Amino acid sequence: MTLKFNVAADAPEAAAAPCIVVGVYEDRTLTTSAARLDEHAGGALKRLIESGDATGKLGATTLLFGLGGVAAPRVLLTGLGEQKKFDGAAFHRAVSESARALKALPIDSAISYLTEVDVSGRDAAWKLRTAALAADAHAYRYTSTFKPKEKSKTPQLESMAFAGLASAGDRATQRAIAEAGAIANGVRFARELGNLPPNICNPAYIADQARKIASEHAGVTIEVLEREDMQKLGMGSLLGVSQGSTNAPKLIVLRWQGAAEKVKPYALVGKGITFDSGGISLKPGAGMEEMKFDMCGAAGVLGAFLAAVQLKLALNLVCIVPAVENMPDGNAYRPSDILTSMSGLTIEVLNTDAEGRLILCDALTYAQKFEPQVIIDAATLTGACVVALGKYASGLMTKDDELAEQLLASGNQTMDRAWRLPLWDDYQQSLESGFADVANIGGKYAGAITAGCFLSRFVNGTRWAHLDIAGTAWDEGRKGFATGRPVPLLTQYLIDRSA
Ligand code: BES
Ligand code: MN
Ligand code: ZN
Repeated sequence: MTLKFNVAADAPEAAAAPCIVVGVYEDRTLTTSAARLDEHAGGALKRLIESGDATGKLGATTLLFGLGGVAAPRVLLTGLGEQKKFDGAAFHRAVSESARALKALPIDSAISYLTEVDVSGRDAAWKLRTAALAADAHAYRYTSTFKPKEKSKTPQLESMAFAGLASAGDRATQRAIAEAGAIANGVRFARELGNLPPNICNPAYIADQARKIASEHAGVTIEVLEREDMQKLGMGSLLGVSQGSTNAPKLIVLRWQGAAEKVKPYALVGKGITFDSGGISLKPGAGMEEMKFDMCGAAGVLGAFLAAVQLKLALNLVCIVPAVENMPDGNAYRPSDILTSMSGLTIEVLNTDAEGRLILCDALTYAQKFEPQVIIDAATLTGACVVALGKYASGLMTKDDELAEQLLASGNQTMDRAWRLPLWDDYQQSLESGFADVANIGGKYAGAITAGCFLSRFVNGTRWAHLDIAGTAWDEGRKGFATGRPVPLLTQYLIDRSA
């Protein structure tokens, strides 16, 4: 369950919430609500700042308990940094850090007044959505595979209200709350699926989760292709990867009809390798456990699909997930094998660890059956993308400038940002093979791009973009937790396309 989001209109000194959140800039200027609290509390906030115990450094938080003259027992003072530089990224940082601090408190609700602060270039609905999503991101806890705990008596954060905005009845406000709720739900779905271990979250499990989405939402239909179905379709590339695993592959196809039947759908395709051992080109042992996250592209497109359906977006959508496990075994595919893809192109396998592109190429070919107006794939595709962009930006590759602009804008809007890499034909030659139409790996350099180039050979002129989320889908630093990216970016893209 996500947090419940509301808007609050209470004066800060009178708000009866267990905690209220206000801000202070680096130059010690208090925000409107903070100044008002300070007045009611006889200058307590200013004294605290002057003593140096609290600072306005961006993201710093200080908790005050039992301020006289203030109804709420707790006030969380949050640093906003330099007032002149207070932009969307700074706002995101401030609301994230305040959410982190709130999570540690024994409270079930809070009111944030940070949404009253002006953010250059962003409107009230944006502030509300951004603050709500940050709060929910910190409220999520992974518990599924721990021994069931007795229900703790300590309250946990269940709802958040935001102040300094238009009334709750305002249409833009309602819309912002609905969008935040849907995106938060999609993000939680994706994080949970990502965090589950591969002995639970295998291809059949992902198919069951997709079936659940279909059964719980009117307008959604599902088809799951089994190994035999894929054999009939000639998906030799996807099936080659699956050969070494006892977990049978699934090709999951979810459809949402939110517009007239004849309207061409948007297609989302997500890499669903439920565990990537590397196969016969086995990965080193250290860090291999992180390859349970190799289905985060699948989780991301399913999460975005869920959010789009929850918002009943006025468009048609098809979500395609090839779910496969990459394992070494007596039946496993090997380096030097030649696979025949559904498109007819033959592929020389030079490394069985470059498996993502091998399942995606058949999924991309299958996607064209739906005559989509646009295909977007998301995949934890290359370590090279992590080297290039780290954990802040997803790699965006497309030859379509307009599509690139739209996706970059969706990322900026949701703070789930991407950065574009070129897909120039110059890079294609590294994929040449002496034995097949294409090799599954390029040379030493530009690994993220050559992987994108490989995929580009299977889209046949359909408008298409590829998101490499290898660096963004989980956070190594934070106990390796799935982030739910790129659900916000993809959902925003769809929101912006729906009538
Ligand atoms: N799933 C990995 C990519 C990956 C690696 C994601 C590390 C996140 C962190 C992918 O299947 C893979 O193994 N790619 C290889 C490709 C290489 C063999 C051309 C890689 O990046 O090393
Ligand atoms: Mn691999
Ligand atoms: Zn992989």
